[in-house]
Amino acid sequence: MSLRLFILGLSASFGVAWLCVVIVPYLKMRDLAPIVLDEAKDGKTGIFYPKRTGRIADGAKVYAENGCYLCHTQVVRPTYAGNDLYRPDWGGLKSDPDRGDTRRETNPYDFFGEKFAQVGVSRMGPDLSNLGRRVESIYAVGGDPAQWLFAHLYNPRAEPARYSSTCPSYRFLFETRRVKGNPSQAALPFHSPEGTELVPSSDAKALVSYLLSLKKDQPVPAVLNFSPPKNNG
Ligand code: HEC
Repeated sequence: MSLRLFILGLSASFGVAWLCVVIVPYLKMRDLAPIVLDEAKDGKTGIFYPKRTGRIADGAKVYAENGCYLCHTQVVRPTYAGNDLYRPDWGGLKSDPDRGDTRRETNPYDFFGEKFAQVGVSRMGPDLSNLGRRVESIYAVGGDPAQWLFAHLYNPRAEPARYSSTCPSYRFLFETRRVKGNPSQAALPFHSPEGTELVPSSDAKALVSYLLSLKKDQPVPAVLNFSPPKNNG
């Protein structure tokens, strides 16, 4: 093999991979136009666009600053890339009381309005695409979903079933302060010195608003639904 052929082969093997994995997806997804819903097929009008403003956007920053994306993904993979839908309640709820089975794959439109789509680097912990839905419907049934998340952030190992959790504790997002008048509604049920209470900082509150907003299980518009329910009638 001549040196020329070797260099050409080497450039081609890296070049083709770079083209397919970086350039083509970038060109296809950098400027998606919002999908307009079709009243006849989707049952509503308007556009397919998740809410991401105010405190939710601030919380996304806290999420990024603290490196949550290093261990948590926010992508329910398409079936061809390794099915995730069998995992209990990752892609949506298996049995939502109102909508039945809402599990679905993530699509690029789910990340509209995010400056950085926090798809994640590795999956040490569970996928968080639908964390908001899981906390509200499963973990904190009968309680306050935000309080469940504050407690998890303060001490991920507090619940007996999670005693061996390797999720880091984010205690620095909480403050101990003297109780003045009535104790705060948001005070955490963990020990703090006599006369003081443990409360979330504004960063913790923003982060929890963001985590509760993570719900990528809205029905997809008909144009994106590649497996519509079979009509046997
Ligand atoms: C070192 C890796 C690591 C980092 C960094 C990390 N986590 Fe975790 N996380 C885990 C693991 C492992 C679990 C699963 C064990 C458990 O349930 O606690 C988990 C579980 C969770 C859960 C419970 C999810 C569920 O459905 O059971 C939440 C919520 C969570 N993490 C939020 C966060 C947030 C928010 C951050 C950033 C502030 C973060 N994690 C950073 C590893 C990590």
